[in-house]
Amino acid sequence: MSPIKSIYTCQNCGTQSPKWLGKCPSCNEWNTFVEEVVSKKQVSGKLSAQIAGNQPLTLDKIETVHNKRISVKIEEFNRVLGGGIVPGSLILLGGDPGIGKSTLALQLALELSDRKILYTSGEESLQQIKLRAERLKTVNNNCLFLSETSLENIIAQTEQVQPEILIIDSIQTLSTETIESSPGSVSQVRECTSVILKLAKKTGTAVILIGHITKEGSLAGPKVLEHMVDVVLQFEGDTNYMYRILRSNKNRFGSTSELGIFEMGSDGLREIINPSELLISKMSDNVSGTAIASAIEGARPFLIEIQSLVSSAVYGTPQRSTTGFDLRRLNMLLAVLEKRAGFKLIQKDVFLNIAGGLRISDPATDLSVISAILSSNLDVPINHKWCFAGEVGLTGEIRAVNRMEQRIAEAEKLGFSRIFIPAHNKSFDHAKFKIEIVKAARVEEVFRKIFS
Ligand code: TYD
Ligand code: MG
Repeated sequence: MSPIKSIYTCQNCGTQSPKWLGKCPSCNEWNTFVEEVVSKKQVSGKLSAQIAGNQPLTLDKIETVHNKRISVKIEEFNRVLGGGIVPGSLILLGGDPGIGKSTLALQLALELSDRKILYTSGEESLQQIKLRAERLKTVNNNCLFLSETSLENIIAQTEQVQPEILIIDSIQTLSTETIESSPGSVSQVRECTSVILKLAKKTGTAVILIGHITKEGSLAGPKVLEHMVDVVLQFEGDTNYMYRILRSNKNRFGSTSELGIFEMGSDGLREIINPSELLISKMSDNVSGTAIASAIEGARPFLIEIQSLVSSAVYGTPQRSTTGFDLRRLNMLLAVLEKRAGFKLIQKDVFLNIAGGLRISDPATDLSVISAILSSNLDVPINHKWCFAGEVGLTGEIRAVNRMEQRIAEAEKLGFSRIFIPAHNKSFDHAKFKIEIVKAARVEEVFRKIFS
């Protein structure tokens, strides 16, 4: 019998099948099965076998790692991780091509001069890494660089160098000799990751794995990896905007609600410590159609500008389009305005934009969204020193939102003079705020208070 067998693997979710299938029975994607040749060697698990042999322990015998988190010099990165990198953890950093993953990883490595770091790249030559490092204008002689795609060599070098942090750019360029399919295929990606995972757990080296996200194409989606790794970070942002947002989609050592904001500049990524100041355009004269929301993403409140344009529909069916806001939610809010508050928007095109290319899911932005829409519809500007926080319900009521004090405090700090909040928000100490707090129970009420 031949030691080589071929198997069909879904490149989206990793489901395997002995024959080709048009539609994956597991993730329901079409045309994702690709033939992969698997050699018998994989079964014997050459690398896996070396790392076996752990003994069970009681809790008191297990060392705690609490205080041993490696705090990197990029504060936003620490925040998203929940306070730094946990030794022995496997962090997957995913994102679209060109978003700045390599830049972020390199910057992290170069700025952390007191730790031993091994930066391996299968995508760039050492010369290219050097060129990039020169752009970043940081020098770190504790950081070693390796241009390599062979997993076996990376493992050997890591065991020799014993770095505290190993950076691998990217998982899709790695290949192991134990599997014959091409780099980037699901079985290669999965096998390489499982070997790296064992290495991380055995040596205590924290590993940052960079992975690409592509909808189509030959590279395997990192979805397969998400189950294996400890932390999944996603680096996102519109390449047309300068903002980049780092989110964690999974974190075994911290909260997933934190958010890191960066700005891509000519000398690398710059952290944005106070996002509000950047997310509000400096309006000198009042224009209609904009409203400021006091939103919270993660643990941080920030004020963000919502822009809207309402115009008469040219075609029979009015257009509704959004950037950074959920389109279905916009349709819902328009229906509420139409049905509950009597505004005639059915024949209007409505465009909604969140400034700075940010994507916001905080329901408290609803109130500023409807205010921006009504302001544009009436062509009456809203005072640029006013801001809003409140969720809009289906009956047109304004619903309470969480962490109201934090939202008000942020608005006050940034010099806003008035904030509109839900009437039924949990009671808090009004006296400590100097900003004028206006409560409203229904959308009509807000409308009267703004435009009268
Ligand atoms: P890169 O880190 O190579 O992206 P990824 O690894 O996610 O594919 O970043 C690519 C983009 O970043 C590229 O379009 C150029 C830009 N960039 C800057 O604007 N400034 C810089 O200092 C650097 C290094 C890159
Ligand atoms: Mg890259």
